[in-house]
Amino acid sequence: MPADVPFEEIPADALSVSATYRLMTDLVAPRPVAWVSTVDGEGRRNLAPFSYYQAVCSHPPMIVLAISWHADGRMKDTLRNILETRELVVSHVSEALVEAANATSAAFAPEVSEWEAVGVEAAPALRVAPPRVAGARAVLECALRQAIPLGSGAHGGPSSTLVIAEVVHFALAEGVAHRDARGRLQIDPDRLQAVGRLGGIAYTRTESRLELPRPAAPQTGKETP
Ligand SMILES: Cc1cc2nc3c(=O)[nH]c(=O)nc-3n(C[C@H](O)[C@H](O)[C@H](O)COP(=O)(O)O)c2cc1C
Repeated sequence: MPADVPFEEIPADALSVSATYRLMTDLVAPRPVAWVSTVDGEGRRNLAPFSYYQAVCSHPPMIVLAISWHADGRMKDTLRNILETRELVVSHVSEALVEAANATSAAFAPEVSEWEAVGVEAAPALRVAPPRVAGARAVLECALRQAIPLGSGAHGGPSSTLVIAEVVHFALAEGVAHRDARGRLQIDPDRLQAVGRLGGIAYTRTESRLELPRPAAPQTGKETP
C-alpha cells in the first residue's frame, strides 16, 4: 500500500462491543492458540481453546490468557476452574489438532466434558492435576499467580479476566526438539507445526517463515542479546 493512503480514524468508544471484538481479533493476528485443560474442585475435566494468549516473562516463565465472561454474567468453565483449583495445562495446537481444538470451543454445559464429547485423548500431567492432550507436541503445565478483572460487563461483573500463570513444567513430544552443540534446546518449527488464530473463523499455518539475524547496536558494534 502506498505511504500516502489516508488512515480511517476510528475512536474506540464509537464501536459496539461486537464490532470491537471483531476489530481486535482481525487486527491483532496471528495469535497463538492455548488449548487449556482444567479441573474443578471435584476433579471434573474441562478443555477449551483461547487465543487471547501470550508468553510474557521468561524468568520465571509466565503466560497470560484473557477469558471473557458470558453475557449473562457467568464465568466460563475454564475461568471458574482456574480460580477454584489454581492450575491449568496449555496443550500446544498443531495442524493435526486444530479441528479438535476448534470443536472444543462449543458452549457445552458445565457438566459435559469436552474430552468425551469431542473425543480427545488425555494423558496425565506431571506437576498439576489437569490432564495434557495426549497428541500435543508441546505442553505447558501452569500454576495461577494472579487473576485481574478487566472492563465491566453485563450484570456488574468484569467483561474479561486476565489470568497470569507460571509454567512449572514443560513437556515436549519426542522429535520436536534437539540439543545444539552447546546443549541448548532447539525447537524444530517444522515438527511443532503451530497454527495461529486470525479474525473470524480463520487460522493460519506456520510453514512459511523468514529469518532475520538480530542487528548489532550501531554505536557499540555489540550484538543485541
Ligand atoms: C481458536 C479460538 C480461540 C478462542 N479464544 C478465546 C479467548 O481468548 N478468550 C475467550 O474468552 N474465549 C475464547 N474462545 C471461545 C472459548 O473457547 C469458548 O467460549 C469455550 O466454550 C469456553 O469453554 P469453557 O466454558 O469450557 O471454558 C476461543 C475460541 C476459539 C475457537
